Amino acid sequence: MHSMSVVIGGQWGDEGKGKIVDCLVPEVDVVIRYQGGANAGHTVKVGEKKFVLHLLPTGILHEKVRCLLGGGMVVDTWALLEELDELKANGVDADSRVYLASSAHLVLPFHRRIDELREKSLQRKNIGTTGRGIGPTYEDKMSRMGLRVGDLLLPDENLRRLVIEKVLRANQYLAARFDAPAMAAEAIGSEIVEHAQRLRPMIVDSFDFLAPVRAGAWRALLEGAQGTLLDIDHGSYPFVTSSNCTVGGALTGTGLPPQLIDRVTLVLKAYCTRVGNGPFPTELHGEEAEALRQAGHEFGATTGRPRRPGWFDAVAARYAAEINGATEIALTKLDVLTGLEQVKVCTAYTLDDKTIDSFPADAAQLERCKPVYTELPGWSVDFSAIKDYRELPENARAYVATLEKLIGCRVRYVSTGPQREQFIDRDQAASVQNRSLGTA
Ligand code: IMP
Repeated sequence: MHSMSVVIGGQWGDEGKGKIVDCLVPEVDVVIRYQGGANAGHTVKVGEKKFVLHLLPTGILHEKVRCLLGGGMVVDTWALLEELDELKANGVDADSRVYLASSAHLVLPFHRRIDELREKSLQRKNIGTTGRGIGPTYEDKMSRMGLRVGDLLLPDENLRRLVIEKVLRANQYLAARFDAPAMAAEAIGSEIVEHAQRLRPMIVDSFDFLAPVRAGAWRALLEGAQGTLLDIDHGSYPFVTSSNCTVGGALTGTGLPPQLIDRVTLVLKAYCTRVGNGPFPTELHGEEAEALRQAGHEFGATTGRPRRPGWFDAVAARYAAEINGATEIALTKLDVLTGLEQVKVCTAYTLDDKTIDSFPADAAQLERCKPVYTELPGWSVDFSAIKDYRELPENARAYVATLEKLIGCRVRYVSTGPQREQFIDRDQAASVQNRSLGTA
C-alpha cells in the first residue's frame, strides 16, 4: 500500500489523468490537487453520466474520499460553486468532503479579463490560454499582491472592502494598458462575500489538515493538472501554463515532504495532443489529424477547442519520466489506435542537421526539431472489454513494449476505453493469476 502517490501528466495535458486517478482513488483517504485552477478539465464517465471537473479533484466522485484544493492552486470561487452545485444536482454531495487550503490564491473576475485582453493584444503570437485568468492570478501571487482563500475568513465588511480595493487597482491597469472599461467593484465585492458565506466551513490550514498524512494514518493521492510539457519551468516556455505541473509542484503545492512519495504514476496517452499554441514536433495535419481527433474525441473539456493530434513522442515522454522520477506509466486511449494499419513513434529529433534524443525545453529549438520515426504494425481487434494484459492483440503489446523500452519505465496500467472499468492493471491480473496458482 502506498502512503503517497503522485499522478502527473507526461505530455501537454489531456492525457486522461482523471480516469487514472479515478481508478486509484479507492486505495486512498485524501486526494489533493496541487497546482493550476479551472483551466483543467477532467472528464470521468460513470455509467451513463459524464462528469467534467475543473477545480475539484476527480476523487470527489468516490463517496468516502476527502478532497483538498491545495495551496499551490488558484481558486475561482464562481467556478467552484458552479461545480459543487452541478455535482449536487447529480446526486453527489461534495460540500462536506471538500477542503480548501487557506494559502491557495483567489482568481477574481479581473484576472480573467486581463487574461483575455492580453491574449487578444498578442494576436497571432498568443499562448492560446484557456482564458481562466490563471497567468494573471499567479502574477499577483508572485508579486505578493494576491488575495488568498484564507482572506475569505475575514469579517464580511472587511472582505468586501479588500476586494473592492483590488478591483479598483485592476481597473486602473485595465484602463491604462488596454483602454478597457472598469469592472463593477462593488458588485464583485458583494459576490465574494456571498461565496465566502458558503465556502468558509471548507477552509483549512493545510499543514494541520494533512498531519495524518505525515503521521502515516492517511494515504494521499496528489493529482496533477495540465502536463509536464506545460510546466512553467520545464515546459516549452513561453507556451506553457503558469504553474509547476511536475513533481516539484506536488511538494510545494501541498507542503508534504518528499520522502513520503513512494509512487509517481506518469500518465501518457498512446498518441499526443496539444491544445493552444506552441511547438509540437509530431503534430499531424489534414485528414490524418482529423481522423485521430474524431476517433479520440479530442476536443478541449474546458474550452471545447479542437486539440492538435500527433504521433507518440518518446523523446518527450522519456524527458517527462526523468523529470518526475516516474515509477510507473499509465498508458491511456490505446483503443483509439485500433484499426490503423501502422502506428508511428518518434524516437529522436533532427535539429539543425544533428540527430538528438533529448528534449529541448526551449520553444525556439523545439520548433525546429523534426521527428525521426519508427513504424510499427497496427492491430484491428477490439479489446475494449479485456482485463488481462496478455489478451491484448500481439501488435498492441509490441507497441507498449516499444514505448517502455524507449522511455525506460514500465507501463503498469492500460486504459482501454472511456468507462471507469475499462482499464487493465497488469499487476492485479498477475496477482490474481498467482493466487489461483497458489503462489501469492
Ligand atoms: P492557461 O493555463 O489557461 O494560462 O493556458 C496556458 C497553456 O496551457 C495553453 O496552451 C492552454 O491551452 C494550456 N492548458 C491549460 N490547461 C490545460 C489543460 O488542462 N489541458 C491541456 N492544455 C491546457
